[in-house]
Amino acid sequence: MRLTRILLPLLLLAAITAVRAEDNPARGGELYVTCAACHGAQGEGNRSLNAPRLTHLAPVYIVAQLQKFKQGTRGGSDASESARQMAGIAATLADDQAMYDTAAYIANLGGEVSAVTVEADTQIGAGYYRQYCSACHGPAAEGNLALHSPRLAGADDWYLLSQLQAFRGGVRGSQAGDKTGKQMRAMAGVLPDDEAVASVVAYIRSLAQ
Ligand code: HEC
Ligand code: HEC
Repeated sequence: MRLTRILLPLLLLAAITAVRAEDNPARGGELYVTCAACHGAQGEGNRSLNAPRLTHLAPVYIVAQLQKFKQGTRGGSDASESARQMAGIAATLADDQAMYDTAAYIANLGGEVSAVTVEADTQIGAGYYRQYCSACHGPAAEGNLALHSPRLAGADDWYLLSQLQAFRGGVRGSQAGDKTGKQMRAMAGVLPDDEAVASVVAYIRSLAQ
């Protein structure tokens, strides 16, 4: 009984974060050469190019976003310049397997969390987070992939801010067919103002050490 209690969460975690047996990280490494130019050799991200850290994300979420970029449900004509740029790159990945292989390679990289750039009241942010975000993203912002909700702990604070603003402004999550994006867009709209957005971002950043 006790063992089950310990093992079950571990097994679930492994199932969610695992690279699939059929994926080929070595081939992914060849494909990642293109990505490294913006996201860095270790997937650490590069703020000056608006390219986020990738290493905290589960492979299945990376693939889901690459599919969206390729299909135009993210990064379409009315999206931000950064998202459109990324969509152009995703289009060069031949098929889903290429995306899975690249994500499998990223899973082994060691890019670290970037420095704090958003200063705001984390106490206030914690209140908003518990009220509006933790049900889907988890109490420690670890993500819940059964709900398609990504891990947020470990993301660049500047990227969290830019994505929340993109959702709020309707430049992310408003394309037809973007079901999960629409869901998140509605939630981003619940935060009352820019200060609330900054505080929730500062709180999420404080969860990553
Ligand atoms: C020319 C620079 C550039 C290159 C090359 C590039 N990216 Fe990106 N990528 C970006 C930018 C900028 C964003 C942020 C888009 C936004 O603001 O919505 C991004 C976003 C992403 C995201 C979404 C992350 C998230 O948390 O929402 C993923 C996944 C991603 N890139 C993977 C890749 C992979 C895999 C490759 C290589 C095949 C790659 N990128 C190549 C610039 C680049
Ligand atoms: C109903 C479930 C739900 C709730 C509640 C929710 N989210 Fe999300 N969130 C999602 C889903 C699903 C996605 C993935 C969207 C996609 O696929 O483009 C997401 C994506 C995000 C992203 C983009 C991350 C990335 O790397 O691409 C951020 C940032 C985010 N959420 C922050 C928040 C914050 C802050 C709150 C609370 C104000 C919140 N979310 C509440 C479901 C939710």
